[in-house]
Amino acid sequence: MENKNEIAISLKDVTVRLGDRTILDDVSFAVPRGSFVAVLGPNGTGKTTLLKLLLGLLKPAGGIVSVLGAAPRRGNKDIGYAPQHRVLEADLALRARDVVGFGLDGNKWGIGFANRKREAAIDDVLKEVDAEQFGGAPVGKLSGGEQQRLLIAQALITDPKILLLDEPLSNLDINHAQEIIALVTDICRRRAVTVMLVAHDVNPLLPSIDHVLYMANGRGAMGVPEEIITGETLSDLYGTKVEVMRVGGRIFVLGAET
Ligand SMILES: Nc1ncnc2c1ncn2[C@@H]1O[C@H](COP(=O)(O)OP(=O)(O)O)[C@@H](O)[C@H]1O
Ligand SMILES: [Mg+2]
Repeated sequence: MENKNEIAISLKDVTVRLGDRTILDDVSFAVPRGSFVAVLGPNGTGKTTLLKLLLGLLKPAGGIVSVLGAAPRRGNKDIGYAPQHRVLEADLALRARDVVGFGLDGNKWGIGFANRKREAAIDDVLKEVDAEQFGGAPVGKLSGGEQQRLLIAQALITDPKILLLDEPLSNLDINHAQEIIALVTDICRRRAVTVMLVAHDVNPLLPSIDHVLYMANGRGAMGVPEEIITGETLSDLYGTKVEVMRVGGRIFVLGAET
């Protein structure tokens, strides 16, 4: 058993029901502190639901969820969250730095935070994600990759210990996806922050991640990629025959709809 203090996130026999549907079905895993985890699996399998559970936005029907040694709670500034599908409206007149500043609202130290301190905190994270040059630009004018940097900056501004990124790569071409992966990897290592990043393709992430959490049918399996992304483990998870091919350092999953 690993030391409890070394674990950032753990689920033990967790079940989540939404309406009459079981979304997570007896899921157990543990994420070591400071590790970079890719969360994979087909659409509708409960990846976003899992992040909402960690954010305290919904309650499990059974099992134990632990985040930094405590039960999940809303407004926890130790968690930075960048939600899925946040393409910022093209006509949005908000400046990039205003969007980043929203990360300070919704928790108690946002209100009453001296303006000068607030602006300095925004400058610091803009710099960290290499977005200073467009801090004053209207967000609607920015590219998908630039907007994604802002959402990561917004998630980072409370200096969290955990970063939850829901499909930050999905609207990006491969070059911009690589840039975001390099940025997140750097943040993970330099800040020793625990990262869970939801993605569809594991390949561009393989050089950076420590673990994968593969989800299918409401169930999950976590471990190193070589251990989890195998025909045997995935066939078991999906409940149907799945084959895995490794070609030139890339992994292809066949027979599973992803
Ligand atoms: N509020 C809700 N009530 C009932 N079902 C929901 C609700 N929100 C999501 N779902 C269902 O839960 C399943 C998992 O959704 P989600 O966690 O968004 O999957 P993923 O992020 O892996 O695509 C989906 O089938 C979705 O339709
Ligand atoms: Mg989702």
